[in-house]
Amino acid sequence: MVTVDQVITALKSVKDPEIHKDIVSMGMIKDVSINEDKLAFTLELTTPACPFNSEIEQDVRNSISTLGIKNLDLKVTARVVEGRSISMDQLLPNVKNIVAVASGKGGVGKTTVSVNLALALAKTGAKVGILDADIYGPSVPLMLGLKESPEVFDNKIQPPITENVKVMSMGFFYEQSQQAGIYRGPIISGIVKQFITDVNWEELDYLIIDLPPGTGDAPLTMAQTIPITGILIVTTPQDVAMNVAVKSIGMFNKLNIPIIGVIENMSYLDCPNCHEKINIFGKGGGQKISEQFDIPFIGEIPLTPQIMQGSDSGKSIIISEPESEYSQAFYKIAGIAAGRISVVAIDLKDQEEKEAANKEKIPQ
Ligand SMILES: Nc1ncnc2c1ncn2[C@@H]1O[C@H](COP(=O)(O)OP(=O)(O)OP(=O)(O)O)[C@@H](O)[C@H]1O
Ligand SMILES: [Mg+2]
Repeated sequence: MVTVDQVITALKSVKDPEIHKDIVSMGMIKDVSINEDKLAFTLELTTPACPFNSEIEQDVRNSISTLGIKNLDLKVTARVVEGRSISMDQLLPNVKNIVAVASGKGGVGKTTVSVNLALALAKTGAKVGILDADIYGPSVPLMLGLKESPEVFDNKIQPPITENVKVMSMGFFYEQSQQAGIYRGPIISGIVKQFITDVNWEELDYLIIDLPPGTGDAPLTMAQTIPITGILIVTTPQDVAMNVAVKSIGMFNKLNIPIIGVIENMSYLDCPNCHEKINIFGKGGGQKISEQFDIPFIGEIPLTPQIMQGSDSGKSIIISEPESEYSQAFYKIAGIAAGRISVVAIDLKDQEEKEAANKEKIPQ
């Protein structure tokens, strides 16, 4: 008969392919019990969206089979890791990860990526919200086809929900006031702060923030106001060629905010007739940036009328054509991004544990 210790030792051989740590020391194995010849335990993954999840599960099954156990009751669940510093807990304590989507310049597809990323993560079962931090030009409600005005209960604004995604945007309020674009910097950061503190987000695994474009005052103040887990940079091949993306990477590096990775949008034109990939602005720009700055390359999205029509008509491609290759491209990106967010979150946890241990060592 095997013992719990033997099971744990066998499971220690399984490593998370991205985090490069064994699953036992990451706390992913729970409730181990052995009853006669039956072994039961729970494998708790770090995100429901990670593309390596089935690989980890298979490695777990293989490692158990080396012990000669045939009767395995394996429960697989996912609990998203918190990627927020303890010191930032006073703002949104129930939101595990805040992921801001940024770009060097406007029009590269930040909102398209933010919206489809949020929808894709929600489809995997994660709890997701999206905050449109573009106060001058809010376009998230349009892309999600949301027209309703948020209600207020108990002094909290209730975010409208679509496809299981909670949404907050200044766009919900403009229709009433018609005052788009008249706000100055401090008022803008005040509004965004209110969207953090006065909105009933409840529990979220991921809050995606669609930042204003560029490296000007607005995105800078916002990145400093919001306790962010990490940044996703959206670029286009042309943007890379013009060195615009580099500026925003430099800004976030200076602010010490981790960069989760680079997404290249409008990478190539998918010819509607021959389906040939046409690299209008050259190839491999996102990869180049990722290598140059040592940040992960998350993936690429083609330039195609379907994505544009989906966004501009209020029915994103993931909803209107879930099986299409373009939706699959967004799913792939969402999975890889979720995996990288877990890496950033675990790094942060390790760092905080080290700091706490060092503090204990110093005599008071
Ligand atoms: N991969 C794509 N293929 C085709 N059209 C796209 C793609 N990505 C975005 N678009 C279109 O390009 C336009 C700009 O995209 P989007 O609004 O997402 O960019 P943005 O970076 O958020 O812009 P802004 O800086 O103004 O906020 C939109 O009309 C959108 O539908
Ligand atoms: Mg936008």
